[in-house]
Amino acid sequence: MENPRVFITRQQISARIADLAEQIRQDYRHKNPLLIGILKGSFVFLSDLIRVLDIPLEVDFIRVSSYGSGKESSGKIEVVHDLTTPIEGREVLVIEDIVDTGLSLSFILDYLRQRNPASLRLCALLDKPSRRKTPVHIDYPGFTIPDRFVVGYGLDFDERYRYLPDICYLEEDE
Ligand code: IMP
Repeated sequence: MENPRVFITRQQISARIADLAEQIRQDYRHKNPLLIGILKGSFVFLSDLIRVLDIPLEVDFIRVSSYGSGKESSGKIEVVHDLTTPIEGREVLVIEDIVDTGLSLSFILDYLRQRNPASLRLCALLDKPSRRKTPVHIDYPGFTIPDRFVVGYGLDFDERYRYLPDICYLEEDE
């Protein structure tokens, strides 16, 4: 059995979100941005972020399938839930929970770019640069973390642990 151990506390998360929100607010205050959450993992981060941001904005979601079950990417990516909002000419800010290999994000950013948004930027709460297979520029990065699988605060392992309020890593029991 795995045992979740706290790695980044809820207090550290909310302090970092306040910093990120300050930067995003400066850049988007009068632009009515469209925030696109990448399902499922980003929904907790997105919902905390927009309430701290406190500027007019809209929200949509996109879901791609990249991970099968377990901890490794399958490498095959497809859109399984598309946007419902046209993004042409919009100021788009993509909200992601974690950038790992970067494969799903670079697919999603290319996919969105083809629809001609006025601007396209990325905010990601967690970044695991040591795992990167393709470069991804994170405009608003939260925390850089080492190569460990993390859960909680929206992140899952086989659909478990999303509800944990802190970001945890999984440790095998003795
Ligand atoms: P990438 O395409 O490898 O960058 O994968 C990004 C997606 O993989 C994220 O949106 C997560 O859903 C998932 N993922 C990557 N690393 C972790 C992790 O440590 N814990 C939970 N999910 C992860």
